[in-house]
Amino acid sequence: MRIVTSIAEMQSIARTAHGAGKTIGLVPTMGFLHQGHASLMHEGRKRCDLLVTSIFVNPTQFGVGEDFERYPRDMERDSALAQEAGVDLIFAPAATEMYPSGFETYVDVERLTLPLCGASRPGHFRGVTTVVCKLFNIVQPDVALFGKKDFQQLAVIRRMTADLNMAVGIVGMPIIREPDGLAMSSRNSYLSPAERRSALCLNRAITAARAAFRAGETSVARLRERAEAIIAEEPAALIDYLEYRDGDTLAECSQADHRTLLALAVKIGQTRLIDNGIMGEDD
Ligand code: PAF
Repeated sequence: MRIVTSIAEMQSIARTAHGAGKTIGLVPTMGFLHQGHASLMHEGRKRCDLLVTSIFVNPTQFGVGEDFERYPRDMERDSALAQEAGVDLIFAPAATEMYPSGFETYVDVERLTLPLCGASRPGHFRGVTTVVCKLFNIVQPDVALFGKKDFQQLAVIRRMTADLNMAVGIVGMPIIREPDGLAMSSRNSYLSPAERRSALCLNRAITAARAAFRAGETSVARLRERAEAIIAEEPAALIDYLEYRDGDTLAECSQADHRTLLALAVKIGQTRLIDNGIMGEDD
């Protein structure tokens, strides 16, 4: 497995691969890889000839006061996990390679980025779409894989790809959870053992909401009360948002159906975690 840090070299490898009739798959990440990333890599391995993962903690998607500096990084561990998962090449550019001085072009998806994480983290998705667009131009993937834990991110990237006619297939993969239900996330490493236990309330809220929906409850007001009550049982948990939205358009809704999304962001101590579930589906 190779590690490439130069954009020019990565583009040249991509050109050569395409010239030889090979397909390229990309799993974009910010590193500190876990089994959620590995599941994307395993699926990518099946779908392409050259499997690339990018490891880049993207400064433009972090707001002032967020965790850019302390975001966990461990290239050695990441390389071992990526190799094990079948990755051929890690693309790991420096921030100055991706954003040299004079950089001033951004990609902005206007409407889908307004609610949920877009409202809590202004500018976040502009950073995500910009870096993902750049990664697509550099790695030139035929297919790119993203996790559904970042449900809104996946919707935004699908929108960008369609609107800008990018010739890349976007694959959304199920949320991978720890055995006790906590959705895997690099940020789980911030949690103390007590916070780790408190963090289970996110999945408990989703499970309870789904159970109520499946028992016939379709009033979003009552489903919201149900999920909020579960989070309220945890003194360490503070809701950033807890919203039911249409799973395709992210529009607000007052009546739930099988495509309704429950999306939540909850602060456990200093750590902000997100999770979600579609009412009529399992993860
Ligand atoms: O989901 C992530 O890890 C990041 O937002 C992504 C897609 C790699 C862009 O930096």
